[in-house]
Amino acid sequence: SNAKNILILPGDGIGPEIVAQAERVLSKVAERHNLEFNLDHALVGGAAIDATGGPLPDDTLAKAKAADAVLLGAVGGTKWDGLEMAKRPEKGLLGLRANLGLFGNLRPAILYPQLASASSLKPEIVAGLDILIVRELTGGIYFGQPRGERINDQGEREGYNTYVYSESEIKRIGRVAFEAARKRDKRLCSVDKANVLEVTVLWRNIMNDLAKEYPDVELTHMYVDNAAMQLVRAPKQFDVIVTGNMFGDILSDCAAMLTGSIGMLPSASLNEAGQGMYEPIHGSAPDIAGKGVANPLATILSVAMMLRYSLAEPDAADTIERAVSRVLDQGLRTADIAGSDEQSVSTEAMGDAVVAALEKV
Ligand code: NAD
Ligand code: IPM
Ligand code: MN
Repeated sequence: SNAKNILILPGDGIGPEIVAQAERVLSKVAERHNLEFNLDHALVGGAAIDATGGPLPDDTLAKAKAADAVLLGAVGGTKWDGLEMAKRPEKGLLGLRANLGLFGNLRPAILYPQLASASSLKPEIVAGLDILIVRELTGGIYFGQPRGERINDQGEREGYNTYVYSESEIKRIGRVAFEAARKRDKRLCSVDKANVLEVTVLWRNIMNDLAKEYPDVELTHMYVDNAAMQLVRAPKQFDVIVTGNMFGDILSDCAAMLTGSIGMLPSASLNEAGQGMYEPIHGSAPDIAGKGVANPLATILSVAMMLRYSLAEPDAADTIERAVSRVLDQGLRTADIAGSDEQSVSTEAMGDAVVAALEKV
């Protein structure tokens, strides 16, 4: 058959808890839309370290490369924090991104109106918020060489990393961002530190060059420190933000809170072939792991992104997003999005509600 192959990587901490709910949603939406998927599971991160000695087993990487799409929970945890860098759970995730060439990371920050009071900002500041952060994901200071720890001329230990971007790396993420802006409100803000860092002077110049090919999109530039402030001061001034790997990591956690919780933000990580990996932007949340209280909606919304971007099933993606909106209408809240006067439900109860809503929306 021509059923698409989906690889599921639950990972660590709350990863398996939230992915279990996302899988139920995927099965239900497949049933409703008459879609057929082959689901396979593999180990990554700490779970893979414990079972095989390393965070990204060959078998997992091979399955990820062969899959039409990958759904990932989260990796990491205190148990593995003492390991040397190359053996840490996070290297499993970074290795998947690098080996699959997943340079284009889309992180939409959308405020569901039902959650206006869960935002840490005043309702009038966030009402209608709809930002897309386009984060470069396979370059910059995360991957630059040389890196490591060495003894300097003073005989002291020093740690070092390299912040480097090539012209082609900047161009291809720029194109992703301009194309995305073109389909939205046609405003793109490139975030850099061009007042200090040469690598981002090049970034800014290349974004300006690309802008000539996209005359319908308005390009502006902003320094990253100001961007962090503006996101909290007046976030609706942004439509699409494009930025490098580390700035994008930081700004997307900040943007998440505007929507009520980091447990609400999904992501897509795409390569040049359109193959993708889908994951919530949050981590393994060791502080709540095993308690059954994590918010599964970011992972469920990541399934919607997977259906839209890698599986060419936009109607099924819409169905999931409508179902999420419906459960929020019904007042269901996990603890992270519940107000002090509101009851909260478990991860599983939230999953139950989304699955039930899929029948009705
Ligand atoms: P985190 O995102 O795991 O948690 C930060 C805070 O947000 C915690 O208080 C946590 O309880 C809360 N939170 C996160 N997701 C939630 C959810 N779905 N529902 C409710 N609350 C949620 O970040 P951290 O604590 O800095 O990192 C913990 C571990 O996760 C580290 O090992 C880190 O490297 C890893 N991490 C992994 C990923 C990933 O796999 N993509 C992303 C970020 C962090
Ligand atoms: C994320 C995470 C990862 C990152 C870590 C776990 C490597 O924080 O996906 O946002 O920094 O990219
Ligand atoms: Mn992050």
